[in-house]
Amino acid sequence: MHDVKTKHEFEPKIVAFVCTWCTYAGADLAGTSRMQYPANVRVVKFPCTGRIDPVFIIRAFQKGADGVLVSGCHPGDCHYMAGNFHARRRFAAFRALLDFVGVDLQRLQFSWVSAAEGGKWVEVATELTERVRALGPMREFKELEAEEQWSGVIDTPELKEAYNTIP
Ligand code: FES
Repeated sequence: MHDVKTKHEFEPKIVAFVCTWCTYAGADLAGTSRMQYPANVRVVKFPCTGRIDPVFIIRAFQKGADGVLVSGCHPGDCHYMAGNFHARRRFAAFRALLDFVGVDLQRLQFSWVSAAEGGKWVEVATELTERVRALGPMREFKELEAEEQWSGVIDTPELKEAYNTIP
């Protein structure tokens, strides 16, 4: 039997790298408030967005993610003072690099969601999932993964957890 899924039947895999203090708490608030957001989103928490290496994002795409969300505390609210400012600068440069290597930037979303913004979390997660669903599966980096032997040097426990969530 052939797998004849149409674009509309495609269920995107979204990995969300979030900071534990703000966005993770916001996502938790959405859950405890019984707000609905797509089950496609697998949340992986980090102490701070400043800890999220851009390589993690490439690795998520290689491991099968169709979209990636990075989210943390609003500027000025980082629990480590300036972690999110560093993250913002780093990701601005990183987006240009992703564009250069051919990743559709619509598959990558950066946002600030506080612990009180359960509703915003739902909006951001839903919007990215629907956008990626319309784009269809991300194949390019998966093919690269198949061709390449990865050294494994950046497979930290957080990343292992992230990649294990991608079916
Ligand atoms: S602690 Fe949330 S972004 Fe730094």
